[in-house]
Amino acid sequence: MRTLVKDIINKEGEKVELAGWVAVRRDHGKVIFIDLRDRSGIVQMVFTPSNKKLYEVVEQLRPEWVIKVIGKVSRRPEKMKNPNIETGEFEIQAEGLEILNLAETPPLAVDTDGYEIGEDVRMKYRYLDLRRPRLQKNLKLRANIIKFIRDFLIDKEFIEVETPVLGKSTPEGARDYLVPSRLQSGKFYALPQSPQQYKQLLMVAGLERYFQIVKCFRDEDTRGDRQPEFTQLDIEMSFTNQEEILKLVEDLYVEAVKKFMPEKKIKEIPFPRISYKEAMEKYGNDRPDLREDKNNKSELAFAFVVDFPMFEWREEEKRWDAVHHPFTKPKVEKIEELKDDPSKVGAYQYDLVLNGEEIGGGSIRSHDPEILKAVFEIMGHSKENINKQFGHLMEAFKYGTPPHGGIALGLDRLLAVLLDEPNIREVIAFPKTGDGRDLMMQAPSEVDEKQLNELNIKINKK
Ligand code: AMO
Repeated sequence: MRTLVKDIINKEGEKVELAGWVAVRRDHGKVIFIDLRDRSGIVQMVFTPSNKKLYEVVEQLRPEWVIKVIGKVSRRPEKMKNPNIETGEFEIQAEGLEILNLAETPPLAVDTDGYEIGEDVRMKYRYLDLRRPRLQKNLKLRANIIKFIRDFLIDKEFIEVETPVLGKSTPEGARDYLVPSRLQSGKFYALPQSPQQYKQLLMVAGLERYFQIVKCFRDEDTRGDRQPEFTQLDIEMSFTNQEEILKLVEDLYVEAVKKFMPEKKIKEIPFPRISYKEAMEKYGNDRPDLREDKNNKSELAFAFVVDFPMFEWREEEKRWDAVHHPFTKPKVEKIEELKDDPSKVGAYQYDLVLNGEEIGGGSIRSHDPEILKAVFEIMGHSKENINKQFGHLMEAFKYGTPPHGGIALGLDRLLAVLLDEPNIREVIAFPKTGDGRDLMMQAPSEVDEKQLNELNIKINKK
């Protein structure tokens, strides 16, 4: 039966069977050392010429070959101990070896942290890049935090609901990815920039407490903290208020940090609240970095930015736009107040920031269809356009919509900060490059003429 590398430390003197990849081979005179890597760690194995047959096989081994080894766990001599690896006090005295598969020389080193390697190579050979322990650790933490979030919210009676990926565009301020429909020729689905409208419709449906760990798609220029597809923890609640939502998020993240990053210190609990105005005046942006020492990796400075304005003026388009999105509830008693001077209207909107990154945003929503309509009008939508784009929502809101609100948290950004990673690509298994390509799969790619014909699409060759 196979033993994982990490477990050999409890098996001194025992015979074990290990399987994994050749990380390093070192020839020291007659003795050959092989470092074996599996998903749990690295261990040194010793081969001596006394077993001639075995020795002849081990002489052929090259990095990244896949092997199975049988050997005895023994304690290393004091001065040979390696404090840098978990199994460093032990080694395996090899007795048997089977080669399970060969490997060509990898086009990139997988035993370093990888930061020194160019993005082109790392992304093209991502399946090799992911062999490095740093990235395996990142993906493991990602999975564990997502499990923790699910358990935390399900305990609080939230229901996880999947919403469509093939849907209709929801304005979140970015460009949509469009998917042509074959059956409805000439029409398009939009990939969701977020499940915003669906989650609000689930509140109309009476679910009261929804969440989803969900992929969102935004066709915008990629940066260190931005990917064309990224993951949100999306939450919506009925009969709630801003305080309840912020407290829920705070409790969730404080507990997650305590459990997974006990060595990190949260600067202030409860998370401080800063008004949008104060943030802009004092820090010049709406995602202030409140750490005492910006080089200090152990500090986590969470803060809520609150009291955003409802609208901002878009000079290029000569119109008002919603700062968050149009579904956000404006701070007005009557509709007239909204129209008098849009620049003065505040919103029930909040962002969560962490060490200078925006890691979440949400709002209390307008559940009164008249207010929602007025907001669309201020944003320059005609009555016909409101009907065409949002008619389904306006219709739904007629049938007893509870007051509701929610938030969406950017999980890639959270993980990147927790893991001290400079870029969210380091916490995503298969990310896109800066110019939105998947170099490994070669996406986006051209498609067959036949596929285009089925969709009634003609490419305008420039
Ligand atoms: P918002 O647009 O603020 O809100 O998005 C919520 C959070 O998602 C993360 N995020 C991103 N992460 C990586 N790459 C991107 N391109 C990207 N874009 C956004 C950020 C951000 O704070 N529907 C609303 C939420 C709501 O009102 O409930 C929404 O999506 O961390």
